[in-house]
Amino acid sequence: MTTNASNIVWHQASVNRESLEQMRNHKSAILWFTGLSGSGKSTLANAVNAALFKKGLSTYVLDGDNIRHGLCKDLGFSDSDREENIRRIGEVSKLFLDAGIIVLTAFVSPFSSDREKARCLVKKNDFLEIYCAANLDVCEKRDIKGLYAKARAGEIKDFTGISSPYEEPENPDLKVDTGSKDLDECVEDVINKLIELKIIQ
Ligand code: ADX
Repeated sequence: MTTNASNIVWHQASVNRESLEQMRNHKSAILWFTGLSGSGKSTLANAVNAALFKKGLSTYVLDGDNIRHGLCKDLGFSDSDREENIRRIGEVSKLFLDAGIIVLTAFVSPFSSDREKARCLVKKNDFLEIYCAANLDVCEKRDIKGLYAKARAGEIKDFTGISSPYEEPENPDLKVDTGSKDLDECVEDVINKLIELKIIQ
């Protein structure tokens, strides 16, 4: 990784990820939820978060709409701004991983190459791509935020699914049918996957 700054030397942490994981009694991981706007990413990530919290685990949710109010408030929705958005979230997620925390990210993250770059920042088993598979029809019918109607009317440009592409994950670690299953079933799918991968017990 190149940086613009020179004369900077990596400082090794004295409390490492392994000791933090041992203390917390679970592994850390990045649960990367991707899908169209309205596909249920935030709802599912927050519901999984609540289930993990109930079990006493250390978790945190990074949500696209919220992060765009702060860390990424300088970014819009051009391809390059989305790329930078996802790059930052990948790096922030990696920090959470080092802190021994299960981080759940809910970003449209429409481009495969950007998701792949985020995955490549960490070891293979540390990153789970979770595809919230609700198709455009379903998301547009839901239109919870009224954004699809605005995008169709030409009031929002570069809107994912309408005027900007969404590249479906070809080989996600988990595909959750958020378009037709109810929330509890979707949460169960994610929790079962975490148990299967021995991230949690
Ligand atoms: S991403 O493409 O860079 O990953 P992100 O998840 O941060 O997007 O933000 C998406 C959220 O911003 C959507 O859920 C929606 O509420 C809102 N939004 C506003 N404009 C757009 C747009 N042009 N395309 C997609 N989502 C948009």
